[in-house]
Amino acid sequence: MNDLKRLYQRYQVEIEREVTSTLRSGWWLNGAMGKKFAANFAGFIGVSDCVLVANGTDALELALAAAVGRNGARGRGVITAANAGGYASCACWHNDLVPHYVDIDAASQLISVSSVLAAASTDTAAIVVTHLYGGVVDVGALKSALAEAGLSHIPIVEDCAQAHGARIGGRVAGSLADVSTFSFYPTKNLGAAGDGGAILTSDPAIAEHVRRLQQYGWVSKYHVGVPHGRNSRMDEVQAAVLDVFLRDLGDRNERRRAILGRYKSAARRRLQFVEGGDGAVAHLAVALCDERDAFRIFMKEHGVDTEVHYPVLDCDQVGWAGLPMKGTEDLVVTRASVNRLCTVPCYPDMTYDEVGQVCLALAQWEAM
Ligand SMILES: Cc1ncc(COP(=O)(O)O)c(C=O)c1O
Repeated sequence: MNDLKRLYQRYQVEIEREVTSTLRSGWWLNGAMGKKFAANFAGFIGVSDCVLVANGTDALELALAAAVGRNGARGRGVITAANAGGYASCACWHNDLVPHYVDIDAASQLISVSSVLAAASTDTAAIVVTHLYGGVVDVGALKSALAEAGLSHIPIVEDCAQAHGARIGGRVAGSLADVSTFSFYPTKNLGAAGDGGAILTSDPAIAEHVRRLQQYGWVSKYHVGVPHGRNSRMDEVQAAVLDVFLRDLGDRNERRRAILGRYKSAARRRLQFVEGGDGAVAHLAVALCDERDAFRIFMKEHGVDTEVHYPVLDCDQVGWAGLPMKGTEDLVVTRASVNRLCTVPCYPDMTYDEVGQVCLALAQWEAM
């Protein structure tokens, strides 16, 4: 599904130059390289603040804590989708909040704005929208609908872990809501050589709160000003690697989009590739397929690996069965989709021949 050795080889000279220089500086945490990447990434997304943290899961948890203001929100609902890998649900439970699941749109597999609106109430502490598979939720439409319903005070968190550089209406995902979060897991559209994450916002109060929470709750060195802090930092070496990759993110996203475009042209009848909108960045090439198991076996026989993102809905995870949650009975589209999802390989370092091999297999499946 991915081969990170190819990524390394492509950028080897620049990575080794930047990493060596960072190591030689003797400053490995909270230094100039992290500041440089944070400023460059904030500029790229179009917000004032970027706080680098250890991974995307921490980013979501801390952003949610800062957005809701933890103590007053205890036990209240956070509207989110149940099909996005469980990260938002985890962030809720770690903040003593209750995930309130709502349905998705069938074609995009993204949270449905009308379902969010139907569920939103005075109990709602926040809304987490995940820009899944590289597609973008229409946060502008959501904000307008909330304002009309007199609910514009509800904070919205964008989870952009699968949507680095994605756009909607000329704006970049991560700049659309109150606060946004990113993962830099190595296979993401912008990935580190290890773990990393970030929280982005143009709200100075949220930025300050997150900065405190990510470093023990300190307001200054060794002085704790807020409860529930922890250590969640990105190291300087990861920031150096990310700064190298950021320069080419646009081109690499275009390559992903071109690969997905070829798949869509090869298969339109028995597979429906998920449509994340004009500004989507093809983090994953996910299709809905009625005979998924047979399709996966067929692809394997034709030399193509497949995956399922994600096989179990958050509300159906055995390990979470005892945790509080709401909305589980109304997920018609989510439930109709979960057993039909299938991912085929899509990453910028695939060769022309490999993409051709996937296209050929897709075309043969269509013709059967
Ligand atoms: C949508 C989404 N949110 C959050 C995360 C969590 O990121 P991390 O693995 O860096 O903790 C991921 C990562 O896989 C993700 O895909």
